[in-house]
Amino acid sequence: MKVQWFPGHMTKTLRQIKENVHLVDLSIELLDARIPYSSSNPELKRLIPASKRVVVLNKCDLANPLVTSQWIEHYKRQHTPVVAVDSKKGSGVRDLLEQLEVLGENIRERWQRRGRRNRPIRVMIVGIPNVGKSSLINRIAGKASAKTGGRPGVTRGKQWIKVTKRIDLLDTPGVLWPKFEEERVGINLALTGAIRSEILSLEELALKLIERLIAADSSLLEKGYGVLGPKDTPYGVLEQIAEKRGCLMKDGKKDTLRVSGILLEDFRTGRLGRISLEEPQADLGEE
Ligand code: G4P
Repeated sequence: MKVQWFPGHMTKTLRQIKENVHLVDLSIELLDARIPYSSSNPELKRLIPASKRVVVLNKCDLANPLVTSQWIEHYKRQHTPVVAVDSKKGSGVRDLLEQLEVLGENIRERWQRRGRRNRPIRVMIVGIPNVGKSSLINRIAGKASAKTGGRPGVTRGKQWIKVTKRIDLLDTPGVLWPKFEEERVGINLALTGAIRSEILSLEELALKLIERLIAADSSLLEKGYGVLGPKDTPYGVLEQIAEKRGCLMKDGKKDTLRVSGILLEDFRTGRLGRISLEEPQADLGEE
C-alpha cells in the first residue's frame, strides 16, 4: 500500500478512526511482534480508551518467541489484553477469538447491569501499513459464517463480518501512519519492510541489520551464512556474506548491493531465523 502521510491525510485518518471508535466496543491495535514499539502509533492512545484496547502481536512466526513472551508480560503488567498471532498461517487466531469472547462477555454483563439491550460486541482492527491488517481480517473472516451486511441507521453502511454469534468485526481496518521522529524507529520500520527507507540506501540498511544481528545473537550470521560476525566490521561482514553467496561482479569485486538485498530478504522472510529487533525496556517509553 502506498500512502503519502501529509498532515491533511493524517487528519482525515484520525477523523475516520475516531468515528469508528464510537461504533465499536473493542479495538485491536495490530503491532509487528518484531518491533512492537516502532510499529505502534502514539496517537492511538488518545483515540482509544484503555478499556477498549486489545494488543495483537502479529508476525509472531518471524519474532524470537522468548522476546515475544517478554512483550506479552509487558502488556499484561499494563492490564492490556494481548495475544500473539501469525495471520499468515493462522496460529494464535483462535486464542484471539477466545480472548474477544471473554472481553465481550464482561462488556455484555456491564450492559445488562445498566439495563441495556444485548447485542454482539463490535470490533475493529487498526495499525500501520503492512503490519498485517488485511491478513488478519481475512483469517478471521475465513472462520466467520457470513457478512452481516450494512445496518442502516446503526452503522451507516459499514460492513460487518459476523465472526461468531457474539462478535462482529468491521471489515475495513483503520490505517495509521508510522512514527517518523526517532531514527531508530525509522530504521526498524525499514528493516522489517513496513516503509521504504528514504534516508538510508539498501547497503546502509543492510549494514544496520548486520549491527543489529550481531547485537541480538552473534551466532545468527554464522548459522545463516557461515561467517563470523563480531570480529569484523559490518562492511567486512557484508563482504564475507557476498563471497559465501557468490555475489561477485565481473571484475571479481564483491557485489555488496546485491547481497544487501539478499540479506534483507532473508531477514524479512524469516530465513535467517526468528529475530526480534526490540525488547520491552524502560528506554522505549511506556510501550
Ligand atoms: P496491511 O493490511 O496491514 O497493509 O498488511 P497485509 O495484510 O497486506 O500484510 C502485509 C504483508 O505481511 C503481506 O506480505 C502478508 O502476507 C504479510 N503478513 C501478514 N501477517 C503475517 C504474519 O503473521 N506472518 C508473516 N510471516 N507474514 C505476514 P506480502 O509479501 O506483501 O504479501 P504475500 O506475498 O505474503 O501475500
